[in-house]
Amino acid sequence: MDKFRIIGGTPLSGSVAVSGAKNSALPCLAAALLTPDTVTLHNVPYVRDLITMRRLLEDLGCTVLVPALRTHQINAGTVDACEAPYELVKTMRASVLVLGPLVARFGEARVSLPGGCAIGQRPIDLHLKALEQMGAQIELQNGVVHARADRLQGADIEFEMVTVGGTENLLMAATLAKGRTRLINAACEPEISDLADLLNKMGANIEGAGTSIITIEGVNALGGTSHTIIPDRIETGTLIVAAAITCGELEITHCNANHLTAVIEKLRAVGVEIEQVNESTLHVKGKSHLRAADVATEVYPGFPTDMQAQYLTLMTQAEGEAVIDETIFENRFMHVSELQRLGANLRVHGHQCRSHGPTPLTGAKLIASDLRASASLVLAGLAAQGETWIDRVYHIDRGYEKIEEKLRSVGANIERIKG
Ligand code: EPZ
Repeated sequence: MDKFRIIGGTPLSGSVAVSGAKNSALPCLAAALLTPDTVTLHNVPYVRDLITMRRLLEDLGCTVLVPALRTHQINAGTVDACEAPYELVKTMRASVLVLGPLVARFGEARVSLPGGCAIGQRPIDLHLKALEQMGAQIELQNGVVHARADRLQGADIEFEMVTVGGTENLLMAATLAKGRTRLINAACEPEISDLADLLNKMGANIEGAGTSIITIEGVNALGGTSHTIIPDRIETGTLIVAAAITCGELEITHCNANHLTAVIEKLRAVGVEIEQVNESTLHVKGKSHLRAADVATEVYPGFPTDMQAQYLTLMTQAEGEAVIDETIFENRFMHVSELQRLGANLRVHGHQCRSHGPTPLTGAKLIASDLRASASLVLAGLAAQGETWIDRVYHIDRGYEKIEEKLRSVGANIERIKG
């Protein structure tokens, strides 16, 4: 397994580009199952989860061409299977996003239940309940969900809690259903709007994406199109924190600041200088004296749970005490024990973590656990004095494109040790 070796203490400086959003590219690839025509996606990030999704689509019988590193051409005209096997689903929960498209277009899907992961149980009960409301028969046998429907029927679906994946699965399923579907209490993330933009280009009839009520008029068929994936707002936020925690100065390009206003507002409030140069460029300047401030993760447009670990790491270097409240997932403080090994003053009580700073961090050997926790360990290593080793960096490779190369290009002393 690859490791990262980091020598901390260098302020980052220079310009770095953000890649396409992993959490938009994943549902957009799955959406290609809804048509026999070719769907071309640009700005697809070169990360492990997208390689996994591409393999899943190929296993279902799709042809996936990659004429350029970040362009995927998917043709689902030859799909001859409807099963997402456990071997793939257990490595990437987002495999469940093929459930809605397969049932909608082929009337059948067999998807292994994803099982829990490091940050929580993450069931898909709301996905299944909503598909049943649209007339699907759902059976669970040997850990595999078997969903069938002659043709899904439009319905009013009210999610009892906001679910990004559930909204995406049902949005895709409803495009080919008979009649109108309304998704109520829908997720409002930019990735939902990006998916809806793609689906409408394919001939779907969707209104209200990005709000909590999405209306879909079902159509009989969808066609091919081309689409460019939005920038990754979480990578953008991670890079802002990298500049802040090293007291550096970064120009962050190819981003969309409108997709992370809650993050930018919070980081400005603690003292990070963030200037929006133009629509796709931020100029960030870290300062040595940051002020600690509480944060609670919320559904979009609130402070995203995917930025919690990165923000918590920054708070270890801020003056005073901050309470970080994780309200979305039940176990998303895996990074805390690793940060404590570097010297951070952190205490977890239930779904809250209390940070007291600033505490000087000194390098140590760490183990990555989940994607965003692992990114926070890289940030901590950049700030720590001395040498930090991070094992199991495949967690990071799932959602960040060559993060060590990007960071090295702006002065970080970080290298990947092939294992
Ligand atoms: C998506 O996961 C993202 N993944 C996650 O990003 C992100 O943290 C999460 O949304 C929240 O923003 C992708 O987009 C691929 P949810 P998802 O359904 O769809 C509960 C990353 O780091 N729930 O909104 O799985 C669930 O347990 C990843 O890139 C149910 O109880 O999240 C959780 O507590 C990590 N039943 C909460 O809702 C359901 O049927 C939010 O989950 C569905 C969800």
